[in-house]
Amino acid sequence: MPSETAAAAPAPALSGQGRTVCVTGAGGFIASWLVKRLLELGYTVRGTVRNPMDPKNEHLRALEGAGERLVLLRADLLDADSLLAAFTGCEGVFHAASPVTDDPEKMIEPAIRGTRNVITAAADTGIKRVVFTSSIGAVYMNPYRDPNKPVDDTYWSDLEYCKTTENWYCYAKTVAEQGAWEVARRRGVDLVVVNPVLVLGPLLQPTVNASTEHVMKYLTGSAKTYVNAAQAYVHVRDVAESHVRVYECPDAHGRYICAESTLHRADLCRALAKLFPEYPVPTRCKDESATPVKGYLFSNQRLRDLGVEFVPVRQCLYDTVRSLQDKGLLPVLPAATEDDDQSS
Ligand SMILES: NC(=O)c1ccc[n+]([C@@H]2O[C@H](COP(=O)([O-])OP(=O)(O)OC[C@H]3O[C@@H](n4cnc5c(N)ncnc54)[C@H](OP(=O)(O)O)[C@@H]3O)[C@@H](O)[C@H]2O)c1
Repeated sequence: MPSETAAAAPAPALSGQGRTVCVTGAGGFIASWLVKRLLELGYTVRGTVRNPMDPKNEHLRALEGAGERLVLLRADLLDADSLLAAFTGCEGVFHAASPVTDDPEKMIEPAIRGTRNVITAAADTGIKRVVFTSSIGAVYMNPYRDPNKPVDDTYWSDLEYCKTTENWYCYAKTVAEQGAWEVARRRGVDLVVVNPVLVLGPLLQPTVNASTEHVMKYLTGSAKTYVNAAQAYVHVRDVAESHVRVYECPDAHGRYICAESTLHRADLCRALAKLFPEYPVPTRCKDESATPVKGYLFSNQRLRDLGVEFVPVRQCLYDTVRSLQDKGLLPVLPAATEDDDQSS
């Protein structure tokens, strides 16, 4: 499997020339790819980070075009003035910053109040369009859904269910997105939302983010078994491209589910083991007697209608692992031999 993947069909070349946009949380996994794509398209980018001097943001300064068209600004989602300063002079805002954790202490306040602050600051600074990176966690968390019916943008997660299952990430993203829509309607902000499923693919940033950890734990030996669960995946380049498409398409509106396909963990582990047999990928389910959970299918039709072409999930896995190896975040092991296969 080649390491280079075809990106989604390109948006018009240099569509961003002479246009300035802000990306919140610019140093994060998804936002870094978004900044890269925006710079490629000729945009001038104001990227917010909490500490512009932190070496973890250096990869942004190394991007093509960054020297001329990227400024990193200090901003915190809970500091409304810092957002106002960052957005002033911009045509659009991509709001990607958020903690990605199930710790309610860390998650709830920046996600919920922070997102309201972003939409309010966008209204106050006359931003033409805000693209908010919500999550599939704001869409599908509801135990009463029919798993045979594809989930589309009309679905919302059940807040009580998120609370009782202590899924604080999904809870906070759901309330954050609801708040974004409420403030946007009240203040007349043109808001478009992207709802990605679990995002994989190569890392631009120097450290492992939460969604990459989802795959990494199956390669390091830290997960001895896999859980009886299913998950949908999407390539980070397609997520970045989706953000650009919904920003640039004048008719874009509402929510856009950003998903390639859904795999049970057994299939995920099988795919990883086939691609990289040298790693100790689990072969057993934690609950072997249980019927395998059927994952939800997600409709990505609205993004395909905007021209996004999705990289297959196996390629996402391959690119993720190769990137972790290239960055020295995962040891490169000698290739497995046939003898290894027989003894395992
Ligand atoms: N990765 C996924 O699978 C996935 C799936 C669906 C949706 N999403 C959403 O996509 C967005 C980006 O996720 P990611 O995976 O790229 O996460 P990530 O790599 O952890 O990046 C998150 C960014 O948010 C920033 N941030 C956190 N709290 C902040 C605050 N109080 N003020 C300002 N910035 C803050 C962090 O900045 P610092 O560097 O300053 O800490 C970091 O750069 C999030 O909104 C997430 O909910 C992610």
